[in-house]
Amino acid sequence: MNKGHKKLHIKTFGCQMNVYDSERMVEALAPAGYDVTEAMDDADLVILNTCHIREKAAEKVYSELGRVRRSKEARKVRGSGTMVAVAGCVAQAEGEEMIARAPIVDIVVGPQSLHRIADLVAKAESGERLVETEFPVDEKFAALPQRASGKRPVSAFVTVQEGCDKFCTFCVVPYTRGAEYSRSASEIIAEVERLASTGVREVTLLGQNVNAYHGVGEDGTTWSLARLLRRLAEVPAIARMRFTTSHPRDMDDDLIALFGNEEKLMPYLHLPFQAGSDRILAAMNRKHTADEYERLIERIRAARPDIALSTDIIVGFPGETDADFQDTLVLAKRLGFAQAFSFKYSARPGTPGASLDRQISEMVKKERLSILQTQLEKSRREFDRAMVGRRIPVLFEGKGRKPGQIAGRSPYLQPVYLDGSERLIGHIAEVDILAAGPNSLTGVMNAGLEWHEPIRAAI
Ligand code: SAH
Ligand code: SF4
Ligand code: F3S
Repeated sequence: MNKGHKKLHIKTFGCQMNVYDSERMVEALAPAGYDVTEAMDDADLVILNTCHIREKAAEKVYSELGRVRRSKEARKVRGSGTMVAVAGCVAQAEGEEMIARAPIVDIVVGPQSLHRIADLVAKAESGERLVETEFPVDEKFAALPQRASGKRPVSAFVTVQEGCDKFCTFCVVPYTRGAEYSRSASEIIAEVERLASTGVREVTLLGQNVNAYHGVGEDGTTWSLARLLRRLAEVPAIARMRFTTSHPRDMDDDLIALFGNEEKLMPYLHLPFQAGSDRILAAMNRKHTADEYERLIERIRAARPDIALSTDIIVGFPGETDADFQDTLVLAKRLGFAQAFSFKYSARPGTPGASLDRQISEMVKKERLSILQTQLEKSRREFDRAMVGRRIPVLFEGKGRKPGQIAGRSPYLQPVYLDGSERLIGHIAEVDILAAGPNSLTGVMNAGLEWHEPIRAAI
């Protein structure tokens, strides 16, 4: 093994699953001697881990490949070679086409084949250009190295479920990530225990449809996400748990109840509703109505009244009228989201939505998005402002922006900054919130209590 001999630059686009996948690729390439570098110009291997969800996201890959090409040319002058790999969802969607369109690309590897990255890199060294877009998902997690050494961050992602069978008519995920697949509970528990032993205090379980989780449990029966979370709560060093992204159709009673009775499960839920009009929801194939979504939120709030709700919304789906858009605005306002991500509909090749009549003009989409975002921003600021004067437990994750400052997260996922010792990183302490800024909260340590180390999040 020749560790540190070669440099790897990896750039990640898209969702948290790609962030997780990038970490796993770094781990898989370490035995081949690759160390991560932040500077593309130093890299022997550049990986772009890409996203195909909207047109803009996919275009970014080709503009980034332009940068990679310039870097590769500059390195060539200095006598160094650069291998280029494109991973992720654009790689999956384009496959061979990408090799034809971008001559500098050596490897195209889809999300379900990334465990093969080290082999592919070794093979490509002979100059061969390779495309690997199979879906051997059963192998993938087993073939990846166990996550272990090195100081890990305080908060880590763990993919528990992949793929999607829901086929919302706007979405590429079922095509790029394949059918739904859940990892076994024992594999996940082992990964979380290993992360905990390296200093991780918070885990966020990931899946395109995380609450559809149905993996083999330790006892051989099928476990739900709630059952898995209850088991992970037994790992002593893990103080906080979160999960994302959920689908309204899969929020079962057990999972809702868990928000009220498992104190390690943080009061934050990302639950996309996409649109407030039943006609549009039906055309999107979301399989729920606006009213069903609202009743669901009521049940969740009954279990956990202080929960921070987050959502995704699309404006300008084909056929969306002004009245449909008003329904979205009214519902979003009534529900008062603590956080929201909103997008202009982007027609994705191969999805049913792309061939629907009555596509909405860019101008109308832009206008609707701006109106919606102004309103969502107001709700978010209101939620943040309601924290001022409260004492909340903060998990410290790193240094702050200013000297002497440390940064952490509230249970509601808000960034919190305050003056304090770096010794607090990795610990939870009570913080009195003094102010709410545009994107974060500031506070002071609970007077007289420099720091303490609760085993369980004290909420
Ligand atoms: N699995 C998640 C969503 C994954 S994609 C879920 O089911 O909710 C993240 C978000 O991107 C979606 O919730 C949706 O709001 C948005 N999105 C997906 N496809 C899109 C498209 N074609 N145009 C615009 N936004 C889209
Ligand atoms: Fe896409 Fe719908 Fe599946 Fe979410 S549930 S990943 S939006 S198809
Ligand atoms: Fe993008 Fe693929 Fe994630 S399309 S949002 S990187 S699943």
